[in-house]
Amino acid sequence: MRANMTTIREVHTKVGQSVTIGGWLYNKRSSGKIHFLQLRDGSGFIQAVVVKNEVPEAVWEAAGSLTQESSLYVTGSIRQDTRSAGGYEMSVESVEVIQLAVDYPITPKEHGVDYLLDHRHLWLRSPRQRAILVIRAQIIRAIRQFFDERGFTLVDPPILTPSSCEGTTNLFHTKYFDEDAYLTQSGQLYMEAAAMALGRVYSFGPTFRAEKSKTRRHLIEFWMIEPEMAFVDHEESLRIQEQFVEHIVKSVLAHCRAELETLGRDVSRLEKVESPFPRLSYDEAVKYLQDNGHEFAWGEDFGAPHETAIAEKYDKPVFITQYPAEIKAFYMKPNPERPEVVLCADLIAPEGYGEMIGGSQRIDDPELLEQRFASHHLSKEAYQWYLDLRRYGTVPHSGFGLGLERTVAWICGLEHVRETIPFPRLLNRLYP
Ligand code: 4AD
Ligand code: MG
Repeated sequence: MRANMTTIREVHTKVGQSVTIGGWLYNKRSSGKIHFLQLRDGSGFIQAVVVKNEVPEAVWEAAGSLTQESSLYVTGSIRQDTRSAGGYEMSVESVEVIQLAVDYPITPKEHGVDYLLDHRHLWLRSPRQRAILVIRAQIIRAIRQFFDERGFTLVDPPILTPSSCEGTTNLFHTKYFDEDAYLTQSGQLYMEAAAMALGRVYSFGPTFRAEKSKTRRHLIEFWMIEPEMAFVDHEESLRIQEQFVEHIVKSVLAHCRAELETLGRDVSRLEKVESPFPRLSYDEAVKYLQDNGHEFAWGEDFGAPHETAIAEKYDKPVFITQYPAEIKAFYMKPNPERPEVVLCADLIAPEGYGEMIGGSQRIDDPELLEQRFASHHLSKEAYQWYLDLRRYGTVPHSGFGLGLERTVAWICGLEHVRETIPFPRLLNRLYP
């Protein structure tokens, strides 16, 4: 590193000092006597001012030659400037060009989404994409902090699996030497084993769904947080979920104000997110839809328009509980008083962002679980180990999965989940 190197994030500690920043030219304005260089270095943005009369001719020329995304070292003194965005400016003393970038493909004019996705490796440099990735990182930090501080142990389930967790229709198939294998859809079944060993556990990793859906909420590869808790029933799980989501939102509001502003997010909507969250049974949700002009029969699953219609009633996330067993996964525990519905909930985000959490209490009775294998046409052999969890000291237990990208989309107020992950895997996109 050069002498006196600093980052834009740190310039507030360097007022009055001469420092060097390594960065890229984001934009430039020039009058005959002054160049205003908009610089970014990853940690932030700053304006560096080059005054013709105050620098050697070579420095003036070098600054004038800079093109968009050229890389450079710039040295100068830092001063406070209330008019500039970050509150500080640099008075430039010298400029050392590392490379002049020629014809950077992303110009300040509007580009189509496909073009931007083709150039995702460069698009990441924009202030908006940077803000999203910073918020994503803060959300991940908040997630880990929430569980680490509450006695949960982080456990990593496998990525290559011999069987499905969430149904067989959207599995990614691959070969595992001579056997068939699938990329994991969810680590849940393994997390149940871990909960029987460690009590309260959570996983955080990538999951894969070969879903032929091209919606603003679906990714082929997405990250999921899956807590699993021994001796926790459905109701207690809901309380943990609402505290968890409140914690994430508060943490972003506390640490990412500048990024939320870059995104133009209406933070007053986020400030309303306090637990407890409203709870609506599936039955009540169906009635609400029917009373409000939707064609919807009991037993059907909600689509995006239904979820949005329900979410619009509230300014917080809302739980929809106790869905028909028929439309939910094989492992969910039936309501003992009403076995046609299961002890489950989906948490629907406000503002039309859809389902962000799916969770349930799990079947703990070995016989019922075996019946479910049969009715769901799941091979008993493949799930023997899972049945063992009910044979050897079964206990009531619950868990849930939060989709990271849908959470980021909602908190950032984004139109589409494709911007929430550095390199989105979409139905028609594996590049770059
Ligand atoms: O509702 P899902 O399918 O639940 C499970 O996988 C459970 N095994 C979780 C558990 O109980 N441990 O998925 C959970 C969440 C959804 O609510 C959604 O936020 C996200 O994962 N999700 C997706 N996000 C982006 N793209 C997709 N294709 C997604 N599918 C699910
Ligand atoms: Mg779900």
